[in-house]
Amino acid sequence: MARKLLLENIDVPGINSMEAYRAHGGYAALEKAMRMKPAEIVEEVKKSGLRGRGGAGFPTGMKWSFIANPPGVPHYLICNADESEPGTFKDRFLMQRKPHLLIEGMIISSFALGANTSYIYIRGEMLYVLHILEKAIQEAYDAGYLGKNILGSGFDLDLYVHPGAGAYICGEETGLIESLEGKRGNPRIKPPFPAVKGLWDCPTVVNNVETIAAVVPVISMGGDEYAKIGIGKSTGTKLISACGHINKPGVYEIELGLPVEEFIYSDQYCGGIRGGRKLKAVVAGGSSVPILPSDLILKTPKGEPRLMSYESLSDGGFQSGTMLGSGGFIAMDETTSIVKNLWNFTRFYHHESCGQCSPCREGTGWMEKVLHKILTGHGTIKDIDLLWDIQGKIEGKTICPLGDAAAWPVASAIRHFRAEFEEYVKNPSKIKDVKHYYRLHDMPVI
Ligand SMILES: Cc1cc2nc3c(=O)[nH]c(=O)nc-3n(C[C@H](O)[C@H](O)[C@H](O)COP(=O)(O)O)c2cc1C
Repeated sequence: MARKLLLENIDVPGINSMEAYRAHGGYAALEKAMRMKPAEIVEEVKKSGLRGRGGAGFPTGMKWSFIANPPGVPHYLICNADESEPGTFKDRFLMQRKPHLLIEGMIISSFALGANTSYIYIRGEMLYVLHILEKAIQEAYDAGYLGKNILGSGFDLDLYVHPGAGAYICGEETGLIESLEGKRGNPRIKPPFPAVKGLWDCPTVVNNVETIAAVVPVISMGGDEYAKIGIGKSTGTKLISACGHINKPGVYEIELGLPVEEFIYSDQYCGGIRGGRKLKAVVAGGSSVPILPSDLILKTPKGEPRLMSYESLSDGGFQSGTMLGSGGFIAMDETTSIVKNLWNFTRFYHHESCGQCSPCREGTGWMEKVLHKILTGHGTIKDIDLLWDIQGKIEGKTICPLGDAAAWPVASAIRHFRAEFEEYVKNPSKIKDVKHYYRLHDMPVI
């Protein structure tokens, strides 16, 4: 049985309450941390090799050590609980079932960073989770884990939950900061990075829910022990939200380094492809990462088994690899239309582009239109080339990576499944749901 650090005791009735959480060892890491110096906590996190679980995989300890220290200026910690990436639903599960794990991680991390005010920025649609968090925060205040002089340490912390309004762009850390300041969530130009100039222009760390929760086991077991789990520079465990055409969709905690094949086919995880069908493709890390056909997701270009780790999934670069991303694992069986799926993703990015950068604002719209043209049987071979051209004009040319996130799925779908696009162009009469898309397109916008 795989080791569980975050989802341990997840099925214990009432584990979302202070009483049950504490009865199962909760807040012991906080008590330990309060006997340490902030710099020692940062050191343990560095030793653990923990990498950001929000998508980019940046080393957490290193990010923390960048925090600037101008005298008399407050520091802030913000937990990114926006979780709007299609295919990713791990953070809401963790917050709903074990809110105190996140709160314990927030207190330890705030102490390490010298932050006396911290925020959990949560996607507004997850109102039920917000209520769970607010109840748990009140319990933490009542227990003396939040507020003034926490556990007699002299350290004060106030923790707030702030709902966003359901915009994907507010998951991008500087868009999030703008939104938290009460403005439109337009990403900022970097540098300066938030560690120097973040919330209210003060030094700020933004970390994902899972990253902050993982600080708890890092402190309880020690950084060196945590680093022994996993493989190479992919240390520890990772939550994977698995969906699509698998028998057992859900949130799984895996040890990094697990073979992808085992993750898909073992009964302990996804339990194979529904109806015994063949696997066609996988989006391994949320809708933004490149899609891979089944042969490339199961084996690296060198023919070795592909592993669930930052390095193995990206082996081969974007020619034949992908990214672990946020751990949103979408499996597609042989009945899936890659073109139709891509159109769906592209509609999302077009809708969610903040509009600041013209390549993203215009490009995502054009990609959606061209894909719709192909999908409805009106495309030409030139349109496939046009699509390739547009994505290339977005990637790397925008303030924030939403542009890349919109371009990579298009580039990878054409790279690996061009024949399918050509089929739509050459034999449109064979495409059975063309009419359906006409109707969708003609629907009035409400
Ligand atoms: C468009 C966009 C949306 C994002 N959405 C999220 C999100 O919902 N949650 C998250 O943790 N990170 C998200 N990120 C990544 C954040 O900008 C940031 O890298 C992350 O919160 C850092 O935390 P980590 O180091 O713990 O991973 C998003 C990035 C982009 C470009």
